[in-house]
Amino acid sequence: MANKLNILFLSAEVAPFAKTGGLGDVGGSLPKALHQLGHDVRVVMPAYANIEAGYPGVTPMPGHLTVPMGIGPLTAGVFQGQLPNSDVPIYFIAEQHLFNRPEIYGYHDDPYRFAFFSRAALELTVALDWRPDIVHAHDWHTAPAITWLATAGKHHPHLHQMPTIFTIHNLAHQGRTSWDIFRYLGIVTHSLVEEGYGEVNFMARGIYHATLINTVSPTYAIEIMSPEGGAGLDGLLRYRHYDLHGILNGLDYDVWNPATDTRLASNYDAEHLENRIHNRRALQARANLPQQDGIPLVAMVSRLDWQKGLDITGHVIHLLLNGFAGEAQFVLLGTGAAVYEEMFAQLASYHRDKMTAFLDYNAGLSALIYAGSDIFIMPSRFEPCGLGQLIAMRYGSVPVVRATGGLADTVHDGVTGFTFYEYSADAFWHALQRAIYVFNTDKESWQILQRNGMTADFSWNRSALSYQQLYEWAIARVRGW
Ligand code: ADP
Ligand code: GLC
Repeated sequence: MANKLNILFLSAEVAPFAKTGGLGDVGGSLPKALHQLGHDVRVVMPAYANIEAGYPGVTPMPGHLTVPMGIGPLTAGVFQGQLPNSDVPIYFIAEQHLFNRPEIYGYHDDPYRFAFFSRAALELTVALDWRPDIVHAHDWHTAPAITWLATAGKHHPHLHQMPTIFTIHNLAHQGRTSWDIFRYLGIVTHSLVEEGYGEVNFMARGIYHATLINTVSPTYAIEIMSPEGGAGLDGLLRYRHYDLHGILNGLDYDVWNPATDTRLASNYDAEHLENRIHNRRALQARANLPQQDGIPLVAMVSRLDWQKGLDITGHVIHLLLNGFAGEAQFVLLGTGAAVYEEMFAQLASYHRDKMTAFLDYNAGLSALIYAGSDIFIMPSRFEPCGLGQLIAMRYGSVPVVRATGGLADTVHDGVTGFTFYEYSADAFWHALQRAIYVFNTDKESWQILQRNGMTADFSWNRSALSYQQLYEWAIARVRGW
């Protein structure tokens, strides 16, 4: 085995404690896979309202943490627990005024909230007298930790010369704020080309300061170096292209396993696909749709965000439910932008007997949808990795996806799903029609598609080794070989 490493893992979301999307899935599963490789991984996230309210297995640590900010010392509480089904320690930074709120994001002071969190998480390692060999930060929320380590923290007695990895999960959210945040953090530095006058861009900072950078699929790593995919940071990413890697996400097989998932009406595996019918009927009952067996049941589980290709989806669902590809049903589970919530609500009321829109966040229902649907659609405009399609394949729902980012790397046309390239309703509709044609006319081929997806390896095994390799390279870069 490689050397045992102390890994400090920082994320704004860690499932099951907090999750709005795939970042939470990764935060809850990659640390367990690294732990299985023999490393000492410690996860730190903010103590949101559900932790403050009392979470089973999570306890307050005695005393409090003093965090030396640029504006003077601030204090924080710390809660402690473990990732489920593991003994990976997780710490929660508690600050009533910053994190004890109804939502995880969406506040005007988000940059300050996560800057404080990032700095406090580093200080926690001093309090624990545990020096990380590597600090692994995810998305802009934790980039302040990398920025601080590369500037003010450079000569810190405990944290100096710290190798860092910055993982980009989504370039669309960059954490832009005013330069005052550096006074708050106690950082003196120069501005980046990517930052407007008086502006700090934490996504850019993570990319600029980290020892090595990665994103969550090989294709997205290439796409973000182009002006179309770079969200204004492609120049900076090209500048660092030797240090930019693409590592596919895996799934937590403890959570996502149709043979053991207790949220389903019936468990099954690739050899017992006939049991899926019970999940389909349970889903139809839950969605108040007619219990028709033979027709394609199409589904979507998604954040309702511009990224997810919802404008082309509206047209395609209308064609589908008007019967242009024969009889079909559609179920949506999602929350997000009001315009898309309204679009799906109206489509559902128009196609009342064929479609249901659950405008909600519900992990249990999502599992039943993956297990009870035939076709899972993900026509994303861009998609860094995507976990929805991986879960769908694992549960035997055949994905129809746009071949972008991680979707292009994980769904293979005619083998595990159906893909299209052009971002248009027309291209999407043709791919969906191809899927429905096979579903309606060739049950044997359909089952092969299902089994190919269900038996493909989407575990963390391979990717955790790639992260280990990245850590070793980063450490070698800082300390010398
Ligand atoms: P993103 O991170 O961009 O949202 P991913 O496909 O990587 O996209 O991850 C989405 C994750 O969030 C999946 O685990 C999916 O099942 C889950 N999810 C999205 N919307 C909902 C919802 N409304 N209810 C339950 N789970 C959801
Ligand atoms: C982001 C991306 C998604 C990815 C997830 C986890 O939310 O939108 O594609 O799977 O992060 O890396």
